[in-house]
Amino acid sequence: MKISVIGTGKTGGSIAELLGEQAVSFNSSNKPTASKVAKTDAAIIFVPGEAAPEIIEIMIDAEVPAVWGTTGYGWSEDLPERVKAIQSKWVIGSNFSLGMNLVRKALNVLGEGSDMLDSPKFHIHETHHTDKKDAPSGTALSWEKWLNKEARISSSRIGDVKGIHELHIKTVNESIYLKHEAHDRKLFAEGAIWAAKKLLNDTEIIPGVYPFSELFDKAFSSQ
Ligand SMILES: NC(=O)c1ccc[n+]([C@@H]2O[C@H](COP(=O)([O-])OP(=O)(O)OC[C@H]3O[C@@H](n4cnc5c(N)ncnc54)[C@H](OP(=O)(O)O)[C@@H]3O)[C@@H](O)[C@H]2O)c1
Repeated sequence: MKISVIGTGKTGGSIAELLGEQAVSFNSSNKPTASKVAKTDAAIIFVPGEAAPEIIEIMIDAEVPAVWGTTGYGWSEDLPERVKAIQSKWVIGSNFSLGMNLVRKALNVLGEGSDMLDSPKFHIHETHHTDKKDAPSGTALSWEKWLNKEARISSSRIGDVKGIHELHIKTVNESIYLKHEAHDRKLFAEGAIWAAKKLLNDTEIIPGVYPFSELFDKAFSSQ
């Protein structure tokens, strides 16, 4: 099995390292082409948002399954139709950590249960390395969505922080805190490779575009 790794920076570099000889790597000085990517079984893409439009067209032409980690990009509404038209399967995730997907379930419960609290205020704070281009992080926006409550979201950019997300729910008389911290980018690399293998091996997945959370939930409920 060969997997195109498009973007070999901080995250894609870990993916290429974990895949070893299975990786066929591309970056801005060795650009992918549809014909080169089509020779591999699937692609894992960690490029910045501004490179996404160019890579989307290459992936549509290559017609192989794709796992997208790019954040800070507005995916067009017609994308699922375009992917179905080529009979391909894509996964898009703002955070490929399996632990983060467990946190999602906790946020669902906290959001729903907080209706019982007296006027709770919600604050989400995310911290990342200074090179991160988008703020707030895609994950912080996902936390607000999973909580299903309007939250204040703030960001810090410090050193080489891999990703910290914190929620504070505060009422006059009590506070609840939830924190997730990524220690190593291999975390995202492992989740992205897990997703690519699911797309290749799970015959129940039909062509279309899926959020990573949907693949996780399918595996979670069948364990
Ligand atoms: N979903 C998740 O779990 C998750 C986790 C971490 C990061 N991310 C997101 O993933 C994206 C990449 O993050 P990163 O920190 O790995 O970035 P990074 O270190 O800046 O790496 C970006 C890579 O993309 C390559 N690239 C840029 N434009 C390209 C183009 N037009 N064609 C081919 N390759 C191109 C760069 O090539 P060069 O090496 O030649 O410069 C570089 O290898 C960001 O949107 C980030 O927010 C998502």
